[in-house]
Amino acid sequence: MLNLIVAVGKNGAIGKDNRLLWHLPGDLPRFKELTMGHPLIMGRKTFESLPGMLPGRPHLVLTRDRAWAKAHPALCCYPSVTELLDALDPHREYFIIGGGEIYRALLPYTDRLYLTEVDDAPAADTFFLQPDARDWICRERRSVAAGDTHPAYDFATYVRRANN
Ligand SMILES: NC(=O)c1ccc[n+]([C@@H]2O[C@H](COP(=O)([O-])OP(=O)(O)OC[C@H]3O[C@@H](n4cnc5c(N)ncnc54)[C@H](OP(=O)(O)O)[C@@H]3O)[C@@H](O)[C@H]2O)c1
Repeated sequence: MLNLIVAVGKNGAIGKDNRLLWHLPGDLPRFKELTMGHPLIMGRKTFESLPGMLPGRPHLVLTRDRAWAKAHPALCCYPSVTELLDALDPHREYFIIGGGEIYRALLPYTDRLYLTEVDDAPAADTFFLQPDARDWICRERRSVAAGDTHPAYDFATYVRRANN
């Protein structure tokens, strides 16, 4: 099962200058709770944007740079989407955690979306397309009101329509 998790603005914004756009209370605990124990799939740039390896979760990183992969033996690196998909265990649950290139490349194979839909439209250089209602059904939604330091946001879970 392939899950995708992303925080996205009303304009599809997800990142700028290889950084996240928001620090939303509740978003990181939810990310941790959902992903703990499951392998994470990410692009090389997203890995480099992390403070380090996230504990308790194997890291599967897409990169075409073989020297970079060799220099990071703690990671499982894959040079193509095909090689990554071939290596996945169909009985395990995986989380695609970004960034823009990897979301685009793996969305066709994704079964479930965990979105944090942020009521904000900041300037950005990396984007995620809103789920097309023809492909996805929203199964769960929980709204969080705006606070002094953050905009309002919704936690929304989408599942792929069975007839696709
Ligand atoms: N809002 C959110 O929830 C969220 C989550 C994660 C990330 N982000 C943001 O997204 C931004 C980063 O996204 P990004 O699109 O620039 O980079 P990215 O998707 O994280 O990584 C791109 C890199 O992945 C590798 N890659 C991409 N497609 C590949 C393929 N088909 N086969 C093999 N390797 C492949 C390449 O690495 P090489 O160049 O090494 O070959 C490429 O440069 C940052 O701003 C980050 O903060 C936001």
